[in-house]
Amino acid sequence: MAEPPPALQAEQRQQSSSRSPTGSPPATEQSNFQQTQAEIVAHQAETIIEAGDDSEDPGYETEADSRFSTSISSSVRDYAFEHGRRYHKFREGRYKFPNDESEQEREDMKHAMVVSLCGGKLHYAPLNNPQNIIDIGTGTGIWAIDAGDEYPSAQVLGIDLSPIQPTWIPPNVKFMVDDAESPWLHPPNAFDFVHIRHMNSSIKNWPKLLTTAYNHIQPGGWIELQELQFVLKCDDGTMKDDYDVEKFLRFVKEGLAVFGVDLLAVTGNAQRLRDAGFVNVEEKVFKIPLGTWPKNKTMKMIGLYLRSVIYDGLQGIALGPFTKGLKWSPEDVELFLVGVRKSLMDASVHSFLPFHVAYGQKPTES
Ligand SMILES: C[S@@+](CC[C@H](N)C(=O)[O-])C[C@H]1O[C@@H](n2cnc3c(N)ncnc32)[C@H](O)[C@@H]1O
Repeated sequence: MAEPPPALQAEQRQQSSSRSPTGSPPATEQSNFQQTQAEIVAHQAETIIEAGDDSEDPGYETEADSRFSTSISSSVRDYAFEHGRRYHKFREGRYKFPNDESEQEREDMKHAMVVSLCGGKLHYAPLNNPQNIIDIGTGTGIWAIDAGDEYPSAQVLGIDLSPIQPTWIPPNVKFMVDDAESPWLHPPNAFDFVHIRHMNSSIKNWPKLLTTAYNHIQPGGWIELQELQFVLKCDDGTMKDDYDVEKFLRFVKEGLAVFGVDLLAVTGNAQRLRDAGFVNVEEKVFKIPLGTWPKNKTMKMIGLYLRSVIYDGLQGIALGPFTKGLKWSPEDVELFLVGVRKSLMDASVHSFLPFHVAYGQKPTES
C-alpha cells in the first residue's frame, strides 16, 4: 500500500514528538493518532473544509516533490513530439496530453494526493481476495504497482496507450500497450476488479467502455471509477466570477468537446454503472482544496498537491485542447497562462474540486 507522502509523515512525526518528548509514542497510540488525522480529513473532505490563516502559505518553492519520478523503458520511436512536448505514438492523437517525464511526475503527485485524501485506501469497492485486477489507462502504473503490493496473490494488469511504466515492478504486475476503447482481447469474466481513474479527459464512449468492462468482470466482481470533476467550487464566497483558473478549466472542457470527450462526464458515473448492469452501486464525493488555504495540515498538503498538479501541468494540459481544439496559437496559450498562474497562487481564494468515487458489482447470478 502507498506510504503517506513525506509532508504527512513529517507532520505525524512532529505532532507525535510534541506529545512524547522521550521518543515515539507506542504503536497503538500512533495508529490511533493516524486514524484521527484520517478521520478529520475524511470528514472535512465530505463536508466543509475549514480555512486556515492565509499567511501560513509555505509558497510554491516547497512543493517540488519528485520522489515518485519514474524511468521510461521504451524507445524513441514510440513517441510523437510537438511544441517541445512528447506524446504517445500508438493510436497517435487519441489522448491529448503529453507523456514525458514532467507529466509522469505530475501523475504520480496526483496519485499521492488521492491516496492521502482517501486515508491510504487504493479503492472503496469491498474486494474479497481479488485474483485478477485490471487498471485501465494505468499511466505511470503507480496505482497498479501499489495494488500488486497490497494483493500479492493477485495478478495486476495495467494497460495504456503509452509504454511509460517502470520495469522494476512487483512480479505479479504486468503492463501492456492497448486502447481501452477497442474490443478487449481478454476472455469474458477474466477480471474480478476493474479500476479506472482520471480518465475523464480521454474516454469518448463511457457506456460502451462500461459494457465492455461488465462483460469481462466475473459475476460478483467489482468496478471502481475515481474522477475529478473539473469545475471549481467555493463554500465561502472567496472565489469571484472572473477567476482565471475557472476560465482555464472551461476552455479545456470546450477544447476536448471538439474531439468528442466530455470532461465533466464524471457526474453521470454512478448512473452509468447502473445502466451497464452493475448493482450495489455506491458513490462518494470528496472536496479537494486547491491551494494551501485549509487549516488542517493534511488538507493543506492535499491542497498543495492539487495546486502543484495544475500549476506544473498548465502548459501540457492546455496545448492539445487549446491549439488543436480551439485553434489558439501556442503564443496565445502562453499569454493566457500568465494570468492563470497568478490566480493559482492567490491564497485568499478558497476553492476546491469535487472528486467522485463510484463503484458497483456485477450481479453474482449473471
Ligand atoms: C490522466 S492519466 C491517468 C493515469 C492513471 N490512471 C492514474 O490515475 O495514475 C490518463 C492515462 O490514460 C491513458 N489513456 C488515455 N486514453 C486511453 C485509452 N483509450 N486506452 C488506454 N489508455 C488510455 C493515457 O495514455 C494516460 O496515461
